[in-house]
Amino acid sequence: MMYKMRTLIGALALLTTTLAPAAEVASIDSPGKVLTVGVTLNGEGRPGYTIARHGAPIVGESRLGFIFADAPKFERNFTLAGKATSSFDETWEQPWGERRFVRNHYNELRVALLDNHEPHRTLDVVFRVYDDGVGFRYEFPDQPTLHNVNIVDELTEFDIVEPATAWWTPAGEWNRYEYLYRHTPLAELSQAHTPVTIKCASGLHIAIHEAALVDYSSMWLRRVDGQRLKAALSPSSQGARVQRTAPFTTPWRTLQIADNAGGLYMSDLILNLNEPNKLGDVSWFKPYKYVGIWWEMHLGTSSWASGPKHGANTANAKRYIDFAAKNGFRGVLIEGWNQGWDGDWFANGESFSFTKPYPDFDLKAVTDYARAKGVHLIGHHETSANIAHYEAQLGDALDLYARLGVDSVKTGYVADAGGVKALGADGKIHFEWHDGQVMSRHHLHVVTEAARRHIAIDAHEPIKDTGLRRTYPNWVAREGARGMEYNAWGEPVNPPEHEANLVFTRMLGGPMDFTPGVLSLVGQGGRQIQSTIAKQLALYVVIYSPIQMAADLPENYAKYPGPFQFIKDVPADWSDTRVLNGEVGDYVTFARKDRNSDDWYLGSLTDENARALKVSLDFLDDGRDYLAQIYRDADDADWHTNPHAIVIETRKVHRGDVMELRLAPGGGEAVRLVAAGKRRGS
Ligand code: NOJ
Ligand code: CA
Repeated sequence: MMYKMRTLIGALALLTTTLAPAAEVASIDSPGKVLTVGVTLNGEGRPGYTIARHGAPIVGESRLGFIFADAPKFERNFTLAGKATSSFDETWEQPWGERRFVRNHYNELRVALLDNHEPHRTLDVVFRVYDDGVGFRYEFPDQPTLHNVNIVDELTEFDIVEPATAWWTPAGEWNRYEYLYRHTPLAELSQAHTPVTIKCASGLHIAIHEAALVDYSSMWLRRVDGQRLKAALSPSSQGARVQRTAPFTTPWRTLQIADNAGGLYMSDLILNLNEPNKLGDVSWFKPYKYVGIWWEMHLGTSSWASGPKHGANTANAKRYIDFAAKNGFRGVLIEGWNQGWDGDWFANGESFSFTKPYPDFDLKAVTDYARAKGVHLIGHHETSANIAHYEAQLGDALDLYARLGVDSVKTGYVADAGGVKALGADGKIHFEWHDGQVMSRHHLHVVTEAARRHIAIDAHEPIKDTGLRRTYPNWVAREGARGMEYNAWGEPVNPPEHEANLVFTRMLGGPMDFTPGVLSLVGQGGRQIQSTIAKQLALYVVIYSPIQMAADLPENYAKYPGPFQFIKDVPADWSDTRVLNGEVGDYVTFARKDRNSDDWYLGSLTDENARALKVSLDFLDDGRDYLAQIYRDADDADWHTNPHAIVIETRKVHRGDVMELRLAPGGGEAVRLVAAGKRRGS
């Protein structure tokens, strides 16, 4: 009886401690006092954090912590061992990008947590609080009892307070990042890739993502209950999803927070949380546009494999080089040039040679020909995700390209999720995920090896973009979502809302090699691209990348010389970017300023609904004449019934004028605003 009584008292005591409300042990405001982060410890010593905006809670108490493979977990029994705050305000210059200057202005809170059970290990959590978002990361100090850190689970949570809906793609599925976006109540999200974009009932927008994903596994988000999301790390063949040696820091867990969708895109949080450029002078990379032996393979009219349909033959390469030279494109991508594409190349990554061309492709003659015309080849390394095989050839492959003046390489990792073949420490092949720790290491290995040779990298079927272009500015673009290729063979093709989804989800991570500009608007077997021709032009302004493809066939561009002029004119590098309006998945309008002239460009697009949008040209210089070269949907344009109906017209405009954009269903508008040489009256 006595014993039972004691257990009961013990249980009650435990219950009261458990239910004791979490106490805030530290807090910090953003520089403009918009956001406040609180750090909490509950009655069990379980660490957590909260976020409030203008005093109202937006992220409720959310857990922090880890579970390890071979050490007691970090979840309870913590006390605060110390806290420190600091402020930072600096403006830095991007070598290329959406804007030239980026302000990095935050207040930082560092808390040291002490496990008050033996062996008394410690963990630091660092919060950087901006007016437009929050980043936090864990810092593992080296300590004898936690030197080798084998993480099986990260306990980080994001508990969104206000009722909300979310735009997301499923994580952990076979097709990596290449899913259509779902728009559901947040309480119906299952497991998602980041960025996940959330719209609260009040209109507040929140995007959860990560920054500086280095030597760590990608964070997926799994819904626990209600609107509480939890980090789920991408798997590893090793059991522990992350294996590190202390000291080390995790990637930043990020929340971009804004009044509207445009505010999410305007936030530079992800870039700011990355380390500054580690490559030094990167002036050897300049943004450019390119064409390529590419769409014809996706249409099936030519092949990557050798044989009568082989696309990458010397004569065809010269034809593309001539086309590029004539129309001012710097680059020509040539896929299928190297041996290994015959048979089932999705599965046979071990067949690829990255130095041996097919006999009908004279690599030296082609690069000589290109050089003479001022054109640069874009190299191609499809690995079919056999990175063991690729890494063994990487040095030789990059040396070959460097010798020939090929200064960009598109890499590819076609294989189902979980199908990456990597060489383990045991000398055996292990199967890994495209977004696990092994791939985070692999991509940076390729990028840094390429940088040593002044080569830029554009990865397809990549790991997601977390802003590493700031640190490694030769990692210029990647895929990581459904691109144009789905309009060639997709089941289904990309729907009209796809790009309006991408802008406020995938594009928050960074540049995408979407490969726009298919003016013919047809894929394989007569598949109709769900876009008007004007929308194809708008994509050059809307979907940012410092390398922009003109993806269609030369013979198709010959059919549309009027619209093609815009593709020739539009730059791929900007000194400034503004989102003029937009709603996730519905529509968006961008204004971007050319980095190399005073011209502005405007790009607007819509989903399946026609729209009339008014935009004020208040970004233009005061008192200056601009000639607007307008490429708009004709009044009777419609992606389905009349996709090629476009009006091209010019008119004079000035700062403060209001332009009315009339977008057709599946439509868009592109405008070049050419600045007159002199100011009026000057
Ligand atoms: C998939 C890439 O996204 C595409 O651009 C490329 O043509 C094929 N893989 C072949 O490498
Ligand atoms: Ca792809």
